[in-house]
Formats: sequence, C-alpha cells, structure tokens
Amino acid sequence: MERVSTGIKELDSKLSGGYPGNRVILITGVAGSGKTIFGIHFLYRACQEGKKCVLIATEETPEDILYQARMLGRDLEPYYENGQLLIERVFESRSERIEGTRYGFKSEGLEIELPYLADFVPEGTDCVVVDNIGVFTIRLSTRKLRDEFDGLSYILKKKGCTALYIMDEASYNMTNQLAEYSVYGSIRLLVKENTYLGKMERYLYIPKMRSTPLSPYTSVFEITSEGIKMDGSGDSEIIG
Ligand SMILES: Nc1ncnc2c1ncn2[C@@H]1O[C@H](COP(=O)(O)OP(=O)(O)OP(=O)(O)O)[C@@H](O)[C@H]1O
Ligand SMILES: [Mg+2]
Repeated sequence: MERVSTGIKELDSKLSGGYPGNRVILITGVAGSGKTIFGIHFLYRACQEGKKCVLIATEETPEDILYQARMLGRDLEPYYENGQLLIERVFESRSERIEGTRYGFKSEGLEIELPYLADFVPEGTDCVVVDNIGVFTIRLSTRKLRDEFDGLSYILKKKGCTALYIMDEASYNMTNQLAEYSVYGSIRLLVKENTYLGKMERYLYIPKMRSTPLSPYTSVFEITSEGIKMDGSGDSEIIG
C-alpha cells in the first residue's frame, strides 16, 4: 500500500511509512491539543513533494493558518501563492451568514451536506485536510452522519485523495464517536498532567490504522518552534 508522509518523521516510522494513501484518516482531540498543527505538517510535506493540496478551513482564516505554519518553520505561503495549496474559506462564508442575521443565530452556514465539501476539491488533488469537520456534524442524526461521512470519503477516494478529517472532541463525543468507524485510520491527541514532572504533556494514541501494525503504547510529543517533536523509540506506557 502506498504511504503518504505525515510530515512528522517519528510518526511516519510508527505508521510503516505514513498515512495509508488514498484513504481517510481522522484526527481527534481536545481544544489546543495540536490537531491543526498535525494538518499543517501533513500539508507542508505534501507541498514540498510537489503534491496538490486543499485545506477546507471552517474555523480559521487562511492568514491565521499561514501565520501558524510559519511559526513552526513550515512556510506554506509560497505554495498558497503559486496555487499548489488551496485554502477554502468555509470559515468566512459561515461567519458572514451568521453575521447577516444580526440578532440571531442562523444555522445555514452549518447546513452544507458533507459530500458537497468535495466540490471544493479540484480533480488532480492529492491531499485534503478538513479542519474542523465537527461543525458539519453536530446537527446530524446518527444515521445521517454515517451516510454523509461515507459519502464524502467515497468521493475523495474516487478523486484519488489522501484525506485528514480533523474533528473537535466535543462533536466527536456528541456524535457517539461514530466517525471512528467510518474512517480507515484514527489518531487521538491527548493533553494530560504528568504528576511526576508536575506539568502538562501532550500524548498521541492510535486506536486504529487498517493494514498497519500498531504499538499499543501512547507517544509523547511536544510542539516547538521547529514543529512537532515526538518520542521516537521509547513509547510511553501512559494510556489516555
Ligand atoms: N511555536 C510553538 N511552540 C510551542 N507551542 C506552540 C507553538 N505554536 C503553537 N503552539 C501550541 O499549539 C497549540 C495549538 O495547537 P492547534 O491549533 O493545532 O490545536 P487544535 O487541537 O487545532 O485546537 P482547536 O481545537 O482549538 O482548533 C496552542 O495551544 C499553542 O500553545
Ligand atoms: Mg484547530
């Protein structure tokens, strides 16, 4: 099976070379756990390799994402400028619709059916990140969620894309963690207190990755000005 680099060396080696190609991987985690940054690593590496990428951003502006990427030593701007990386501003159209109602919240901005997100993905796109897919799922029944997730994944697979669905923990839990079943692989990011060291630490756990042998241990990682640094060999025994 083709592997597509995660953009994080140590994670690639844990995943037999990277994310399974032409498949969908889910990344979940609490606020601030590093989900968007995992997406940035994936996109940056893919851009460096000359791949065509699309980021469907529901929560942040392209400017904020480009700024964050630069802060991690992964400047996406040249790729955004030359069109190799498209950043779809679902964030702004959502906010404009909400703002347009002036006094009340109108849910139209959240009413895009998931399979229609594939319209943002031109033919020939290699890598797709949807951040945060959770904004489209909280209104859905369990049955509809599964249908819509599978529908979007089916279209992206047909287009030949390797995709990351980034989903906030609240939406993930509110939808009974159903997203997990519909994807090929899943990565969970956790933030926990290390009582020995008296500080918060970031952990990564891989509940499933089809066609890939997995370690049962969590890995510790840090976010630094040079990007994500992960525990390479010595996996942590603290399970989240
Ligand atoms: N250069 C850096 N050095 C250290 N930490 C950083 C750096 N840049 C960002 N961070 C940390 O990364 C965290 C944010 O990561 P990220 O935006 O990927 O989280 P997230 O899981 O996407 O959050 P949300 O659910 O709010 O979208 C911030 O809380 C910030 O503290
Ligand atoms: Mg984020």
